[in-house]
Amino acid sequence: MGFIPRLALVVAALAGHGFTAPTSASAKYCDEATGVCYSEISVGVAPITWRIAIPAVEEGPFDVLLQVVAPKTVGWAGIAWGGGMLYNPISLGWANGNTTVAAARFATAHVQPEIYEQANHTVLQGSTANATHWTLTTLCQGCSTWIHNGGAKEVLDPGATAASFAFAASAVPPVDPTDSLSPFGIHSEHGIFTLDLAAAKSEQFNSWVEKLEVKP
Ligand code: HEM
Ligand SMILES: *[C@@H]1O[C@H](CO)[C@@H](O)[C@H](O)[C@H]1NC(C)=O
Ligand SMILES: *[C@@H]1O[C@H](CO)[C@@H](O)[C@H](O)[C@H]1NC(C)=O
Ligand SMILES: *[C@@H]1O[C@H](CO)[C@@H](O)[C@H](O)[C@H]1NC(C)=O
Repeated sequence: MGFIPRLALVVAALAGHGFTAPTSASAKYCDEATGVCYSEISVGVAPITWRIAIPAVEEGPFDVLLQVVAPKTVGWAGIAWGGGMLYNPISLGWANGNTTVAAARFATAHVQPEIYEQANHTVLQGSTANATHWTLTTLCQGCSTWIHNGGAKEVLDPGATAASFAFAASAVPPVDPTDSLSPFGIHSEHGIFTLDLAAAKSEQFNSWVEKLEVKP
C-alpha cells in the first residue's frame, strides 16, 4: 500500500475516535465572484473548509475575515484561534434557514464554552445555506488577541507561515439556530491544523470588508 492511501486510512481511523490528525496543507483560494483571496484548508470527517484573510500588517492585533464551508450534515463548526479548546476566542458557525449565524465563545474548561463579548462577528455577504452546504463569511474583530489563563496577553503573528488553530464540529445543530447566544452540545470531532497567515495577508483587506458588508 502506498503512503497516501495508508495516511488516509490512519486519518479515517483517528476520525472514528473523534480526533483528526494534524493537517498542514494550506493553500490559497480566491473567490471568483468577489475577488477575495484566503489561505484555506479542508479538514476533518465532513470535511469542513476553513478560509482566512487578514490585512497586510506587521503585527497584531488585526481583524480577520473568516469563511467556513461545511456540508449540511454539520450542525455547528468552530475554530479556536489559539490552537486548543481552552483559553482562546472561538468563532462558531451554523446554518439558519438560507443563511448562517456567527457566534463567539471562550472556554476555561472542557464544558460548554461561555459567551465571549470581547470578539464581535459581523456576518457578511457570501453567508448562505442551500440543500447541500452552508457557508459563513464573517469579519471577526477581537479574534487575534486575548488574555490567556494566568493573564498573559496573546496576539496572533500575522507573519506566521504555519499558525496553529484547532477546530471542532458536531452533527447536532445548536438548540436555537436563530440565536448566536444559543447553547449547543459537545463536538463529535475535533482536531488541529495550520494555516499560512503570511499568505493570507492582503492590501485589499479593508476594501474587501467594505464590499462584503451587508447593506440594510
Ligand atoms: C458544549 C460544548 C463543548 C463541550 C461540552 C466540550 C467538551 C470537551 C471535552 C470533554 C474535551 C476533552 C475530551 C476530548 O478530547 O474529546 C474537549 C476537547 C476539545 N474540544 Fe471541546 N467541548 C465543547 C465545545 C468545543 C468548541 C466550540 C470547540 C471549538 C474549537 C472545541 C474544541 C476542542 C478541542 C480542540 C479539544 C481537544 C483538546 C483541547 O484542545 O483542549 N470544543 N472538549
Ligand atoms: C432567504 O429567505 C428569506 C426569508 O425566508 C427570503 O426573504 C429570501 O429571499 C431568501 N434568500 C434567498 C437568496 O433565497
Ligand atoms: C450550495 O452551497 C455550496 C457552498 O456554498 C456551493 O458550493 C454549491 O454550489 C451550492 N449549491 C447550489 C445548488 O447552489
Ligand atoms: C465590539 O463591539 C462593541 C459594541 O459595538 C464595541 O464597544 C467593542 O469595542 C467591539 N470590540 C472589538 C474588539 O472590536
